Amino acid sequence: MTPVKIAPSLLSANFSRLGEEVAAVTAAGADLIHFDVMDGHFVPNITFGPMVLKAIRSYTRVPFQAHLMIMRPDLFWQAFARAGAEIIGIHLECQLDHRKLIKEITSGGQQVCLVMNPDTGVEPARPYLEMVEEILVMSVNPGFGGQSFMPEVLPKIEALAELREKNRWKFQIEVDGGINRETAPLVINAGADILVAGSFIFGSADYAMAIRELRCNK
Ligand code: DX5
Ligand code: ZN
Repeated sequence: MTPVKIAPSLLSANFSRLGEEVAAVTAAGADLIHFDVMDGHFVPNITFGPMVLKAIRSYTRVPFQAHLMIMRPDLFWQAFARAGAEIIGIHLECQLDHRKLIKEITSGGQQVCLVMNPDTGVEPARPYLEMVEEILVMSVNPGFGGQSFMPEVLPKIEALAELREKNRWKFQIEVDGGINRETAPLVINAGADILVAGSFIFGSADYAMAIRELRCNK
């Protein structure tokens, strides 16, 4: 079986030395870097923007994924792409023309990751499932690191994996929020291919060991 990919979330990294943290998780085996962008409107918290991404981009060769928890990803995705993000995560809950935005992003050469909050069902995502490279299932309400995993999202992961199989779609399933050594096997068994983990990795003394622990379940 293909091993799951691990995407450390910089939200729990030491912000005073972000570049070194990116280099450290890369050396520890990260497959991609997850960059949580919050605007204080879409979620009740503010993090960092494209200038920070640009400043740390050269510290790794693995892809950067910008998870845009912002009201208007349509106005800002290009700045993140220019700063070096290969994957652009847009929320299904944003009020905009998703089909148009997905086409715009992919025609610029970036990959789209469609993100769903815990309360959002599979139906609203259905029209876009064949258009995107990744579906990100939030397993906490977005806004903060270090929250507890919500097991009620497991049936949604299973439903997405089943739909993908039935229709021979190619999207990868990513899960974000509360991932640790106990919850990783649950989401992997449900069908996840990529695990985002912030506090579990950056809160551990040995990043490589933490990443191995998350991965060894598949
Ligand atoms: C939450 C963010 C997550 C978060 C995950 O809004 O999207 O990426 O950093 O952090 P942990 O792994 O600590 O739940
Ligand atoms: Zn995230």
